[in-house]
Amino acid sequence: MTRTPIAVLISGTGSNLAALLRASAEPSCPFVVVGVIADRDASGLEHARSAGIPTEVIRLADHADRAAWDRALAASVTRLEPQLVVLAGFMKLVGPPLLDAFGGRIVNTHPALLPSFPGAHGVRDALAHGVKVSGATVIEVDAGVDTGRILAQVPVEVRAEDTEHDLHERIKAAEQPLLVEVVRGLTAGRQDGPAATL
Ligand code: GAR
Repeated sequence: MTRTPIAVLISGTGSNLAALLRASAEPSCPFVVVGVIADRDASGLEHARSAGIPTEVIRLADHADRAAWDRALAASVTRLEPQLVVLAGFMKLVGPPLLDAFGGRIVNTHPALLPSFPGAHGVRDALAHGVKVSGATVIEVDAGVDTGRILAQVPVEVRAEDTEHDLHERIKAAEQPLLVEVVRGLTAGRQDGPAATL
């Protein structure tokens, strides 16, 4: 079976990447991770390295400016020839070059129930607001900050004693199968077709 190639972008520990890799190890999985790109020396890259998957680090500091970094990121993703790009804890906004090349084929997972608490501190912001339920959201990426079309959500109860770390760990546990499910759904049956549109 030919499987749909996906590229995964990370910045952190890569638990969502690991969940995608575990899923893709099953013979019936419709997708295969063809490369992992990080914007820093993310510890999560180790999941890809130990699975023999190509990795690359594209640091903002190594580029003349943000626009040059955006072009380098888009060029590297394009070289992997993915049908779908998955932002799995990628902590930078993607710029016009990547959106132009893969518009409608980029998904992001976020640790809150969007449209509430977008941005880099979704878990902290939800706790600070005193919500009793938070969760995770998988969206189609557009040019805004977590404003894209919602593809799937899962609720997670907030406990009175929760620290940001505790709540984030429980959200990650719920978010990983959600992300895998969305990626499965978007890649199933698309192996031989034209570029996937969400
Ligand atoms: C995930 O919870 C993801 O939703 C979040 O970063 C975490 C990465 O965890 N992303 C954002 O906050 C994006 N705004 P991981 O590195 O263990 O997969």
